[in-house]
Amino acid sequence: MANNETDIKIVAFLCNWCTFTAADLAGTSRLKYAPNIRIVKVMCSSRIEPVFILKVLLDGADGVFIGGCAPGDCHYSKGNFYARRKVALAKTLAKSAGLDSERIRLSWIPASEGPRFAHVVNEFTAHIKELGDNPARREVYI
Ligand code: FES
Repeated sequence: MANNETDIKIVAFLCNWCTFTAADLAGTSRLKYAPNIRIVKVMCSSRIEPVFILKVLLDGADGVFIGGCAPGDCHYSKGNFYARRKVALAKTLAKSAGLDSERIRLSWIPASEGPRFAHVVNEFTAHIKELGDNPARREVYI
């Protein structure tokens, strides 16, 4: 069981071109956001496979966040549309595995929207705290 707020662990897969840049902007703008996310930079949100999401949850992270470019802005044209399908599949598989699909969130955050990044991370972290610890949480994780 999480002892304090920083025990909540959220793995965030962020697209290099948009959401990662928004996270960087939030940082350089000195915006405060929940310290619970562990960022993994990917070149496009379509790089994420459902198995990545399930593995992270089964290894005990409390939440998984995927951030990508807004529809129409993906640097690889349709990558974010593929990501949307993959996340939908991951949610279905998570339910089948007895995991709460609410622990998975996909969001489109453009590079110029650092404040929005901070807001979305704070809101998702609060939501994960409401859900409580991931039942699959292990003693040792990240
Ligand atoms: Fe950002 Fe594809 S490059 S979602």
